[in-house]
Amino acid sequence: MRNVINFNSDWLFCKTSEVPSVVPAGWEPVSLPHTWNAMDGQDGGNDYWRGTAMYCKSFARPELEKGGRAYLQINGAANIADVYLNGRKLGHHEGGYSSFLADLTDALFDENLLCVVVSNAENDYVYPQKADFTFYGGLYRDVTMITVPAFHFVGIPGIHVTPVADVANHTARVTVETWVAGADSVCIRISGECRNVAVADGYASTCVILDHVRLWNGTEDPYLYTATAQIYCDGEIVDEISARFGCRTIRFDPQKGFFLNGSEYPLRGVSRHQDREGIGNALTMKEHQEDLALIREIGANTVRLAHYQHAQEFYDLCDESGIIVWAEIPYITEHMPGGRANTLSQMRELIQQCYNHPSVVCWGLSNEITVGGMSDDLMENHRELNDLAHALDHTRPTTMAHAFMLEKDSPLIDIADIGSYNLYFGWYLGTLEQNDAFFDEYHAKYPRRCIGFSEYGADANPRFQSASPEQGDYSETYQCMYHEHILNLIETRPWLWATHLWNLFDFAADGRDEGGKKGINQKGLVTFDRKIRKDAFYLYKAAWNRKDPFVHLCGSRYADRAESETEIKVYSNQEQVSLIVDGKAVAQQHGKNVFTFRIPITGEHKVTAIAGDCTDSIMIRRVGQANSAYRFGSGSGVSNWFDEEGFDSSCFSIRDTMGALMQNPKTAGIVGALMEKARASRGDVAKSAGSNASLQKMMAGMSLQSILRQAGEHVVPPEAVKQLNAALQKIKK
Ligand code: GCU
Repeated sequence: MRNVINFNSDWLFCKTSEVPSVVPAGWEPVSLPHTWNAMDGQDGGNDYWRGTAMYCKSFARPELEKGGRAYLQINGAANIADVYLNGRKLGHHEGGYSSFLADLTDALFDENLLCVVVSNAENDYVYPQKADFTFYGGLYRDVTMITVPAFHFVGIPGIHVTPVADVANHTARVTVETWVAGADSVCIRISGECRNVAVADGYASTCVILDHVRLWNGTEDPYLYTATAQIYCDGEIVDEISARFGCRTIRFDPQKGFFLNGSEYPLRGVSRHQDREGIGNALTMKEHQEDLALIREIGANTVRLAHYQHAQEFYDLCDESGIIVWAEIPYITEHMPGGRANTLSQMRELIQQCYNHPSVVCWGLSNEITVGGMSDDLMENHRELNDLAHALDHTRPTTMAHAFMLEKDSPLIDIADIGSYNLYFGWYLGTLEQNDAFFDEYHAKYPRRCIGFSEYGADANPRFQSASPEQGDYSETYQCMYHEHILNLIETRPWLWATHLWNLFDFAADGRDEGGKKGINQKGLVTFDRKIRKDAFYLYKAAWNRKDPFVHLCGSRYADRAESETEIKVYSNQEQVSLIVDGKAVAQQHGKNVFTFRIPITGEHKVTAIAGDCTDSIMIRRVGQANSAYRFGSGSGVSNWFDEEGFDSSCFSIRDTMGALMQNPKTAGIVGALMEKARASRGDVAKSAGSNASLQKMMAGMSLQSILRQAGEHVVPPEAVKQLNAALQKIKK
């Protein structure tokens, strides 16, 4: 039988590329999972260490049966890895998010030195290279040595199960495929009976009909079967592998959205990056389980596992919980002519390794890949990717996440089977209403296209609060306002086949420096350490989690309030909320999800919300001056940017549009330099976007003042805006 030996312990680590011939001295002892960017990858400055490092481990010759093999399985080496055993190169892998094998057998000694060279250095052929997240380097998932007898199953996972459910007749036709070395037959069983199948050219498959099938029915009933494949030799089982699978049907309707098992099932959920404060992407099952629990708590029925292949453990958890998954490869932001082979190999590995998961319903080809511009090579790359995905899996559609500036009539959109857009109107630019208008216009123009909402969000630092929230102020208050608008958008458009809030969790983007936290994207509804559920988390919990009654008072972190009458906002999945102030019932409301009250404040008050058997309380106090700690931008207190007078309309000013300002050579010079600075604060994606023609077109119609407001005071402080305006006012139109 196969023997899977955990190889996570007793490694030696060093930032070198010279493969040692003996066990190296003085290297750092580490255990896996490990990343060398756990700290510098999330502290800002876009300066985390990217380079080549090495992990070495010594081990004794494993016991092998005659003809047996010993494979090393690495589940995550970011981003490029070379495997050496006793100085001999046995494997090379490009792509930091999938599993791969190296055959150690022929290089084994009695005492062995295994070295894995890993690199996350910049290059122009392995994705990702430009994106809004940290490309942590390291052996950041489990490593195992797998010994197998001469007759054994081959590959990861070595078994594919394709269930085709007939919901009306409660049956399923299940095809089981296996890949085999040595043996001439295998035994395949699902719930009991063994089916003997001949092996031809290393491949064996069979088809089993299941009667009275129990469906994999999303979060309601995510029922899983197990298919097992065995190899017998002289009446003994010599190798065995198994795979869980779920019987379900999926359908994507342009007018009605997503269907699961023949019933409308609007996919409403969140996205997740695989990292955590203090440990980077070197996650263990504990972190995976915590994240999945939060996805279930908010009541999401889908998760977009962005922007790459996640750990198998997480897809397993989604299978078990009935959470539907958008899986994707990191073909992202900027197309690289030399990267086509890598997109194909990453897509091949994603599909082969995630094929059996019933939770996965689509394969994402790319994310905002046109930010860096369009090209024929980019289009051809997508056609090849799309064809490969269809060849490897005829049961799931391909999709793409488009950047908001991609024209709706772009030919790129027609390549994938279904599509989605990432929109940030009401955060990066424009107004919240533009999100509604965008989708309504798109849906009216393309009624036969399936369209989803693959990203939307607004940053919030829980420290920042406001009685008058504004776009771009990084306050928890604005994040709630933003999401209340979007929640209404997605609830009133069932034809959006899926919506994925960006992001359930704050995550590391070392190039960022905004909202009072360096290196962190704060669009999460949960903080990077998973310790705080921001107020907006409870809005979606109210709308989506219909099982666990709760009531949540927003503003627990907004204790000091300068206003004489203040807003008290409550989120609850109960229909009736009562408000108690200092022990006295003051109001009661009947409604859905959001309950807003206004109360006078004079001193210190205890505010309690009651809904059914649930209560929540906060303490607030009236203060004379707004607490500057609540306001991002050093609390300069400059709420109005300008006194209105002093604008000479015969000259340029910040109130002119970008288009007008960029047309005049004098004003273009002044403004161009400033925009470069504003982009630099948003990391690599913004730098790529700088050259994006359609983004420039969109911004041409916006006033410089609105763009600066969005960039935030930390990028362009009010004093600098005044100086800029004074300079522009010297230039006659
Ligand atoms: C983009 C991108 C994300 C990024 C997000 C943001 O849409 O796909 O990777 O994090 O915008 O700017 O927060």
